[in-house]
Amino acid sequence: MLKGKNIIVGVTGSIAAYKAAYLIRGLVKKGANVQVVITPAGKEFITPLTLSTLSNAPVISEFFSNRDGSWNSHVDLGLWADAMLIAPATAATIGKIANGIADNMLITTYLSCKAPVFIAPAMDLDMFAHPTTQQNLDRLRTFGNRIIEPAEGELASHLIGKGRMEEPDSIICVLEHFFAEQKDLREKKIVITAGPTYEKIDPVRFIGNYSSGKMGYALAKACAERGAEVILISGPVSETIAHPNVTRIDVESADEMYNEAMSVFPHVDAGILCAAVADYKPAVSMDKKIKRESSAELTLQLTPNKDIAASLGAIKKEGQVLVGFALETNNEEAHALDKLKRKNLDFIVLNSLKEKGAGFRCDTNKISIIDQKGAIAEFPLKLKQEVAVDIVDKLATLLL
Ligand code: CTP
Repeated sequence: MLKGKNIIVGVTGSIAAYKAAYLIRGLVKKGANVQVVITPAGKEFITPLTLSTLSNAPVISEFFSNRDGSWNSHVDLGLWADAMLIAPATAATIGKIANGIADNMLITTYLSCKAPVFIAPAMDLDMFAHPTTQQNLDRLRTFGNRIIEPAEGELASHLIGKGRMEEPDSIICVLEHFFAEQKDLREKKIVITAGPTYEKIDPVRFIGNYSSGKMGYALAKACAERGAEVILISGPVSETIAHPNVTRIDVESADEMYNEAMSVFPHVDAGILCAAVADYKPAVSMDKKIKRESSAELTLQLTPNKDIAASLGAIKKEGQVLVGFALETNNEEAHALDKLKRKNLDFIVLNSLKEKGAGFRCDTNKISIIDQKGAIAEFPLKLKQEVAVDIVDKLATLLL
């Protein structure tokens, strides 16, 4: 699983830095390409010579070399990595990265890193238990970082408690598990609808809604990162996505979205219907701009759009999985379950507009997942990327 993976190992100033040597040797043995970045304090605990010998590459520590004026690009490094692992991570480094204090090469690399970041804290038990450290770790978790909890045991201070950096073999296991899990959908094809639809009134006006497409795009990314081939049918949004596994089809109206979804669905394993499809469209859309000819009232006659979810539900074959969303303001669970049944969905993701930070236009969401038996799993408020991972986890249990 680690063969050919590019891994940045960040080493900071802790007595546990000696374990970084075993960690790096283990990663290299498994076929990973390791680039070590060490903080100035880290060099007090273990020499760059040891780490560069084990990783087969010069250790990076400074922004530039005083000898020849060459400089190290933390941006290139951040883009190169498939994962970054900070082990050991001291309380100081945890505090700095949680707050963007980019005063060394390791932290600028962290800030430039687009890949998943794993952090293995190492410190004294009271430092670890301190609310400051815990708050910083919580903050890092909300940014999507993965914390590898320290173990209990004897510490450098000879006190016994929680704060020992996790053992190198266990850390390697975490990474292997992450990369294995990541590709579990590689044989699967998934269609996702996202964003709003625009229903044309005349050449300059439309009926739309506030959907930003963020949730649908986060789902597309989460599925693609786990190896699935994704067809993203997107209404008009400003979101972008650049992943080799994602093919994006841009549409504007519910009718266009319906046509694309109906032609793609027979060839996929799953459909996630995240779009906020307009329920109605103008009965007639005008070719010319409607003029304000008088002060008389204007009446728009609306006609219902086709229900994409229900139409896909009606043609769903054995083995295909269909996931819908419900945004409700009252009687949430009953309405959502009713929608699940009406549209022949396998599960439905409920987000309530009553929840602060959930729903349209925000970066966070708070969901419940309701299955066909009516069982409800509630999730806390999370970033949409993290919510997407929870939804894809549930989807994977039905697909695999
Ligand atoms: N949906 C769809 N096509 C439509 C309307 C909705 O595919 N024309 C999908 C949405 O993408 C979502 C689910 O159906 O996954 C529920 O959408 P929602 O708007 O909550 O449901 P409606 O059936 O439109 O019910 P209502 O607006 O009355 O709550």
